[in-house]
Amino acid sequence: MAMMQGNSIAVIAAAPEKIRSKDTHYPYKQSTNLSYLSGFPEPQSVMLLIPGRSQGEVVFFCRDKDLLRETWDGYRQGPAGAVQNFGADDAFPIDDIDDILPGMLEGRDRVYYGIGKDAEFDKHLMEWVNGVRHKRGSDAMPPGEFVDLDHLVNEMRLIKSAAEIKLMRKAGEISARAHRRAMQMSRPGLFEYQLQAEIEHEFMLSGATGPAYTSIVGGGENGCILHYIENRDKLRSGDLVLIDAGCEYQDYAADISRTFPVNGKFSPEQAAIYDIVLASQVAATELIAPGLEYNLANDATVRVITQGLVDLKILQGEVEDLIARGAHRDFYMHNAGHWLGMDVHDVGDYKIDNHWRIYEPGMALTVEPGIYISPDNTNVDEKWRGIAVRIEDDMLVTKTGCENLTSEVPSARNEIEQLMAS
Ligand code: GLY
Ligand code: MN
Ligand code: MN
Repeated sequence: MAMMQGNSIAVIAAAPEKIRSKDTHYPYKQSTNLSYLSGFPEPQSVMLLIPGRSQGEVVFFCRDKDLLRETWDGYRQGPAGAVQNFGADDAFPIDDIDDILPGMLEGRDRVYYGIGKDAEFDKHLMEWVNGVRHKRGSDAMPPGEFVDLDHLVNEMRLIKSAAEIKLMRKAGEISARAHRRAMQMSRPGLFEYQLQAEIEHEFMLSGATGPAYTSIVGGGENGCILHYIENRDKLRSGDLVLIDAGCEYQDYAADISRTFPVNGKFSPEQAAIYDIVLASQVAATELIAPGLEYNLANDATVRVITQGLVDLKILQGEVEDLIARGAHRDFYMHNAGHWLGMDVHDVGDYKIDNHWRIYEPGMALTVEPGIYISPDNTNVDEKWRGIAVRIEDDMLVTKTGCENLTSEVPSARNEIEQLMAS
């Protein structure tokens, strides 16, 4: 509220429920901004921030208590619960919102709102704004200005508090344990979905709600498909398997990738590619510290990967020229990482006024370089084709550098081989 301009109101809506098919729903996922600001877990709710409102500045609309519906679908806080348990000063049944909300908009100059994320709610908000204008026998003025609320909330979410850091450490620990388990369970003949099951078993056994995003388990050349989520193929001896999976723990995501040999032993070609990716990740990690620009870590991965591919004669030419024309893009086609938090690709601007952002303590991000050599790439020697490696860890920017939240799963080749043999 302190960030809002005078005489304004903020409107934060719950995420809609989504039907999966006929009578089954997707598990409900609250809007991350509403979760962040209130922790309120229910659909069909709206939070208002109305600085200066004498009857209360934090206002909730939510589903009324309904014992029959609660018997079928679960507990409801009701307006009283929103006040008692979620910090609302004042709360009303959601069924009364059409009558009450226009009056709260009346006389306010501007509305802070995350426009365009939920077409249905956008439409309702316009109706409530127009409801002010059309109030019979009044000269009430609706707010004349809409301001993007997300911009303010995103800046808050980008810098993690001590309480958030605790949850992110836990999400990282659980996810690291799950990857260790997958390494230990791997053997030729298993199916990709069976390693997925090992990973997700460990997530839930440890108290996470489940995966923060659809787990990727790609054996052999399936690893070359960046968002491979079918996970239906058989794992073969001699192939690598690339796993990208992270849990969601109390609304916070982890995001880990590891690549290891299905049979526990890297081939010379796999080892050569692996070591380049790992070296690029180490180089990037050294450039994550307060005061440094966001892009330096990415540039470091491009440099190490390009040099490494030249050394293996997979790329030909001068490293500087190859970097200048982006020759790595055939093999490393994504960036080195992204912000991490309540969303796996978390909110927050990467640039300010067209300049790369400077790291500050409390920011969290992934570092995830990779090399993917397409099975169809006839420009490279056959022995390299179909090899795919990504290594991804989660970093928290500290006062002096960064802390790896996911270091408990090994990434050095010899440590992976040792763990797999144990
Ligand atoms: N798993 C999504 C990502 O690594 O960004
Ligand atoms: Mn990932
Ligand atoms: Mn990631």
